[in-house]
Amino acid sequence: MGELLVTGGAGFIGSNFVHYVLENTGHTVTVLDKLTYAGNKASLAGLPADRCRLVRGDIADAAVVDPLVAAADAVVHYAAESHNDNSLHDPAPFLETNVIGTYTLLEAVRRHGTRFHHISTDEVYGDLALEDPARFTEATPYNPSSPYSSTKAGSDLLVRAWVRSFGVQATISNCSNNYGPYQHVEKFIPRQITNVIDGVRPKLYGAGANVRDWIHADDHSSAVLTILEQGRIGETYLIGAGGEKNNRDVIELILEAMGRPRDAYEQVADRPGHDLRYGIDSTKLRTELGWTPRYSNFEAGLANTIKWYLDNEAWWRPQKAAAEARYRDQGR
Ligand code: NAD
Ligand code: DAU
Repeated sequence: MGELLVTGGAGFIGSNFVHYVLENTGHTVTVLDKLTYAGNKASLAGLPADRCRLVRGDIADAAVVDPLVAAADAVVHYAAESHNDNSLHDPAPFLETNVIGTYTLLEAVRRHGTRFHHISTDEVYGDLALEDPARFTEATPYNPSSPYSSTKAGSDLLVRAWVRSFGVQATISNCSNNYGPYQHVEKFIPRQITNVIDGVRPKLYGAGANVRDWIHADDHSSAVLTILEQGRIGETYLIGAGGEKNNRDVIELILEAMGRPRDAYEQVADRPGHDLRYGIDSTKLRTELGWTPRYSNFEAGLANTIKWYLDNEAWWRPQKAAAEARYRDQGR
């Protein structure tokens, strides 16, 4: 049992992790979050105040970070600018948070000898061809495509260098696309669910042949906890649940599950540089650490997620208009 500092714990995956940790372990949690447009205090509502507190602050601010790291037994680092489309519009905050923010945390854990787990993405590996049977492994060379993924790749390399040069006690995980509750309505699945709720046709980029490897956020959380507890220092673990699907199929599943015709969507301008396919080989995590995902049925997980957005309009409604306004500016 210990005290975890969870950066970005008011965001989508970070808040799911905080819920997961409080439900499944005896740890206490301090969330450090800047509460950008993507952070939401309401995602932590109802959690026990004696085991979870929220500090509003910037991971790139060493004066804020240092005492929090000094008080923690381990840092789990989720905070990031996370949306590819935003990074194409304005890369600057991605450099500041993803690169300088990670550097600031690394210097703090180096000073205090604190265990560090860095959350990253499969996008650091670039993309795979649609017809290629290959999947990403820990040995795949880095080849990021977007400002977002290149800053995440940069942050991974900083972690590796701090392990090797300074002996920082860190692990890294690179996960595929998450879905589940508390995901911002700018992202693909919640955008389409909330569009359908609003009577707006879902928006498919281009032909929708692009493949993403979907994993439920709870499975990401159980994998991160496993790596935090049992992972070998200096190692990278890929996290994936064998959930490859193309975007057109996902939109059709959402429409069908919400009682609309499967073709009631609209094709919009494609994303510049749009990665074709991500696919994860998570053999190392499964064989070395014994992890297995719990959500093997994407349709069932998607149905739960749709129900969550139907039941929690008060959570997402305040962000919806601004997210759609950003898309209108980008022609999508
Ligand atoms: P998100 O955008 O929903 O949440 C990010 C959180 O970080 C927000 O609460 C935001 O307020 C906070 N934040 C941003 N800048 C900050 C700063 N400078 N200081 C402190 N807090 C700051 O993102 P997400 O989808 O939950 O992603 C979380 C992490 O997981 C990211 O590192 C991302 O790269 C990684 N990841 C995401 C996915 C996915 O499918 N969403 C998949 C693999 C990896
Ligand atoms: O692979 C992990 C990554 O997954 C994470 O590192 C990122 O933080 C996360 O945002 C996600 O990146 P993507 O770019 O894959 O996710 P997004 O939800 O933006 O889009 C998923 C797919 O859906 C992508 O191929 C683009 C497409 N799309 C997206 C939107 C918002 C659409 O077709 N229509 C849309 O309206």
